[in-house]
Amino acid sequence: MADAEYILEVKHLCQTFESGRGRKKITVKAVDDVSFSIRPSETFGLVGESGCGKTTTGRTIIRLYDPASGQVFFNGREISGRMTGELRRYLTDNIAMIFQDPIESLNPRMTIEEIIGEGLRVRGVKDKQEIRRRVNEMLCKVGLTQEHATRYPHEFSGGQRQRIGIARAMITQPKLIIADEPVSALDVSIQAQVINLLNDLKEEMGLTVLFIAHNLSVVKYFSDRIGVMYFGKLVEVARGDDLYKKPLHPYTRSLLSAIPEPNPFTERSRRRIDYDPKTAHDYSRESPRMVEIEQEHFVYCSPSEEAAYQKQLGL
Ligand SMILES: Nc1ncnc2c1ncn2[C@@H]1O[C@H](COP(=O)(O)OP(=O)(O)O)[C@@H](O)[C@H]1O
Ligand SMILES: [Mg+2]
Repeated sequence: MADAEYILEVKHLCQTFESGRGRKKITVKAVDDVSFSIRPSETFGLVGESGCGKTTTGRTIIRLYDPASGQVFFNGREISGRMTGELRRYLTDNIAMIFQDPIESLNPRMTIEEIIGEGLRVRGVKDKQEIRRRVNEMLCKVGLTQEHATRYPHEFSGGQRQRIGIARAMITQPKLIIADEPVSALDVSIQAQVINLLNDLKEEMGLTVLFIAHNLSVVKYFSDRIGVMYFGKLVEVARGDDLYKKPLHPYTRSLLSAIPEPNPFTERSRRRIDYDPKTAHDYSRESPRMVEIEQEHFVYCSPSEEAAYQKQLGL
């Protein structure tokens, strides 16, 4: 059953890809039994190294892919079932995605006005003046100007292109934004500007955000809750501060140890923790599963690991 507390619920989501041919054909479990929920107006950070299945999770939620199994609910309505025209409209009205690569995701032959206004045209807005007015309004919101409307994507910097991507996603006033590593391709000096823009728009428009990142340093400052993914599986989900103050899963600890610190004294003694699942866990006799170890703090562990984590938390 869907829970009214949540705007998005992902339940036991699985996604597979076939790769190779003939006898060498293998099935990659890109997303393996992933469950998490997001409350309205929350920012949920989804973090894990490259290839762990973050993009596939986002793309499956928005139905760029059909799920192999599992369910997804938006505002209590299942959006993972059979695709119909009506469901497609429901999805495009409510959920939008911002892509990692602002260069590849913008059609080079379309003007900025055409790119940003496309969502309105798809929804049947025909009045050219109305589209122009709303595109201009959106351009201002993302820190660009009306003069930019007639130009083409190649005339813009990476940061500006990502602003265009954000304008395109937000013009139809979706309720949920899936931001897939929106700043990973940008210079570090520009990353904060784009993140601040996203956060400002989120507040102004009352958006819910699923923010995907490959390390914790980006999501640290603004995620209400964070899910850590490793090889297709969620291994820990917690409120942001809990995850930083009391990480339990060894993979989360390893990710945290990779964040540089601005303090040169502690930075010098900072030790990078490596995560090797073969030595970190013994699952030969006990199987791991997701456990809510304390309120809102979930960790993927075996019963004996659970006991050790409880001790660690003083429970
Ligand atoms: N369209 C696809 N076809 C085949 N394999 C894919 C496809 N997309 C992703 N994969 C594989 O699925 C896994 C997860 O990929 P992805 O979701 O892109 O990870 P992330 O976004 O965390 O870097 C990887 O092993 C990747 O190679
Ligand atoms: Mg990705």
